Amino acid sequence: MPATARIKTPVRWVALGALAVMIAFPSAATAGNPAAGRVKTRTCLTCHGVDGMSRVPGAPNLAGQNEMYLAKQLRDYRSGKRPHQIMSIVAKNLSDADIDDFAAWYASIKITVKLPD
Ligand code: HEC
Repeated sequence: MPATARIKTPVRWVALGALAVMIAFPSAATAGNPAAGRVKTRTCLTCHGVDGMSRVPGAPNLAGQNEMYLAKQLRDYRSGKRPHQIMSIVAKNLSDADIDDFAAWYASIKITVKLPD
């Protein structure tokens, strides 16, 4: 979904969506094992980097990203709800445990941000 479409979404729908996600994935924020996720990222680091920072144009940084968001994106790639020529293939055979572990690992990476002067 383009960013502009997200901005136009009425706040109450966003809140309702968040609630739906919380009901659908009640333990998504704590289910994953970061250490297990780290080991599994051998297949991801060519594009997303050892540290979760993108190595190729077009691949997003995953370091420090919200755990629930990451898990949802991987489930959406797996189900076909978020189609992508690379990630749909990558996610196709991931188990729920794999997804939760990846999300926990990337979310656990500490990042700092600095606004431009
Ligand atoms: C060959 C390169 C490549 C590999 C390997 C790869 N990815 Fe990706 N990944 C991408 C690209 C490109 C995107 C952006 C896709 C899009 O536009 O939807 C992406 C998107 C994602 C996203 C969504 C991020 C967001 O901000 O919405 C997640 C999560 C993700 N990848 C996790 C993984 C995991 C976990 C692995 C390993 C199991 C992996 N990727 C392997 C290239 C790759």
